Amino acid sequence: MIHRVLGIETSCDETAAAVVQTTGDPLRPWAVVSNVVSSQTEIHREWGGIVPEIASRQHVADICGVVEAALAEASIDLAGIDAIAVTEGPGLVGSLLVGVSFAKALAAARGLPIVGVHHLAGHIESLTLEHGELPLPAVVLVVSGGHTNLYLVPARGDYQLVGQTRDDAAGEAYDKVARLLGLGYPGGPVMDRLAAEGRDDAVPLPMTRFTRPDRNEASADIQHGGFPDDVKRMAEFSFSGLKTASVRYLEQHGAVHIPDFCASFQRVVVTTLVDRLFAVAERLGARSVGIAGGVSANRRLRADALVRGQREGLPVFVPPVSLSTDNAAMIAAAGLRRLDRRGPSALDFNASANLSISR
Ligand code: KG4
Ligand code: ZN
Repeated sequence: MIHRVLGIETSCDETAAAVVQTTGDPLRPWAVVSNVVSSQTEIHREWGGIVPEIASRQHVADICGVVEAALAEASIDLAGIDAIAVTEGPGLVGSLLVGVSFAKALAAARGLPIVGVHHLAGHIESLTLEHGELPLPAVVLVVSGGHTNLYLVPARGDYQLVGQTRDDAAGEAYDKVARLLGLGYPGGPVMDRLAAEGRDDAVPLPMTRFTRPDRNEASADIQHGGFPDDVKRMAEFSFSGLKTASVRYLEQHGAVHIPDFCASFQRVVVTTLVDRLFAVAERLGARSVGIAGGVSANRRLRADALVRGQREGLPVFVPPVSLSTDNAAMIAAAGLRRLDRRGPSALDFNASANLSISR
């Protein structure tokens, strides 16, 4: 009987470990016992973005201490752990390898079952970890520095990708535009804060439209769950045009009022995310809507989604910040889900930069 899972996450620039246990309550199946994150943001800030080689070296330096801290915070030792869950992908392969190698070695040494977890399944399950089981079917937007993905969750542990960004992730767009404005890295939280002091109609930035007929084909390289074309189109995002429009506007108008610019940029990003999320939810008959990933910390995104949900009679779930940015509690939760449905992974699974989500 699996009761306590040690989760390990090293897919990007956070070294994280956590202990999550089962509760026995089918409506709120999991509880966080400990959740430790060592962030490398300060290290990468100097470079204005994540440097993969530095990230993997830092994971090597931090992983033992972070796992020890997660066990200590849970007041247990390894004897109190029944299984290990680790992020196997997608992400930076050198970073993923640190967590996967560590987890496999620990599992082999202790004779523990191990389960490889898809990072985005982790983000989706952060919602259940915080709020209990969602009314299904649910439509979940995972929005971070690396992803802008829309999933349908028709059944527990079944994640179907409906659409994703064709180019930049929403958080990446925030980070790039913040850099243009000289606001540092990561830019999302700063722009969010400044936006509160600005007018969101001050700068005429364009909403994304896929107008050219040849661009209306949904991308072929996305593994869709066989959704109709109109749904796939509804679930696609693009933020590179907004970035280009921002560059052009800033070039043409030397001195801009930064809070106005941030508020206007934020209006376009958030309106796009909320409109598409709810359009897909309505079209697929969702009974709830979720938003997860680092950008779900955005105040306007939370507020607008809640208002829209109330208007449309759809419950909206967003995790607290501690579970929305990369963490290992969500990986342990997704590991529990996967163990429940499919049992442990064979020890020959490997880190995979472009892992696609599976059921
Ligand atoms: O999930 P996360 O911690 O890391 C991954 O990218 O996987 O997300 C980080 C991203 C960054 O791009 C950051 O700028 C963005 O989330 N972000 C925000 C906010 N807080 C973090 N973007 C907009 N508004 C925020 N409040
Ligand atoms: Zn993430």
